[in-house]
Amino acid sequence: MSLPSGLSSYEFQRALTPSHDLKHYFHLRLLKDDADLPLLRTENTPATTPIDIPAFFGVPGPIEIEVGCGKGTFMTSYCERHPDMPFLALEKEAEIAYIAAGRVARRPQLKHVRLVLGDALIFFRDFLPDACTKAVHVYFPDPWPKKRHHKHRIMQEEFLDQVRRISTPDALFFFGTDHEEYNLETQELFKRMPWLEMIDPKAEPTEGIQTNFEIKYRKIGKPIYRCVLRVHPP
Ligand SMILES: C[S@@+](CC[C@H](N)C(=O)[O-])C[C@H]1O[C@@H](n2cnc3c(N)ncnc32)[C@H](O)[C@@H]1O
Repeated sequence: MSLPSGLSSYEFQRALTPSHDLKHYFHLRLLKDDADLPLLRTENTPATTPIDIPAFFGVPGPIEIEVGCGKGTFMTSYCERHPDMPFLALEKEAEIAYIAAGRVARRPQLKHVRLVLGDALIFFRDFLPDACTKAVHVYFPDPWPKKRHHKHRIMQEEFLDQVRRISTPDALFFFGTDHEEYNLETQELFKRMPWLEMIDPKAEPTEGIQTNFEIKYRKIGKPIYRCVLRVHPP
């Protein structure tokens, strides 16, 4: 069976739906047919419309984004310091995302934080407009240590291409990991992207805020690799 023209792989149709109980929490869902089967995208499927930033966040952009926010330790502390900033947190595990969503709900001052349950790459690609983001934070992404699993890592060229597209001029990209080999491969990946400029190869936690995983790793004396890059969009 050959692929429909215009698609590089089979893709499902997706939609962004608000959760029933928490107004800042959204789910990236597969669209299904009457038999409850996910709908495949075809070359005729209309492209997803990017979200309207001021309508979605309640304030105009540019936004900041955290990919894989986990239980939201960094997000909540960081956003408490910047309560007027529109902030998007993405988390693909439902139970973890729900914990983070609850932490936001208990802080009513965080009016412009939105949490999306779903895959960050798909959300970037299908739902974020060009040049809407002034910082992307990726902290302690799953390392997928086995070589045959590397394809699951978030730090890939396709993801960075999306970062470039959604970035405003001089946007920042924050990266941190405890995994030496993942760090080395990611540094090599950064070097292959001439539009990424390393501005702090040995960064401290952003504004001094450690993430949930980082707190655990530092406690047991694991080395932490953090860096900050400037993004020069097209
Ligand atoms: C190791 S945890 C780190 C969580 C948090 N950043 C911290 O440092 O405490 C990685 C998190 O990223 C999430 N994640 C991994 N890939 C993702 C993706 N493509 N989109 C959204 N979330 C993702 C995982 O579900 C997990 O909760």
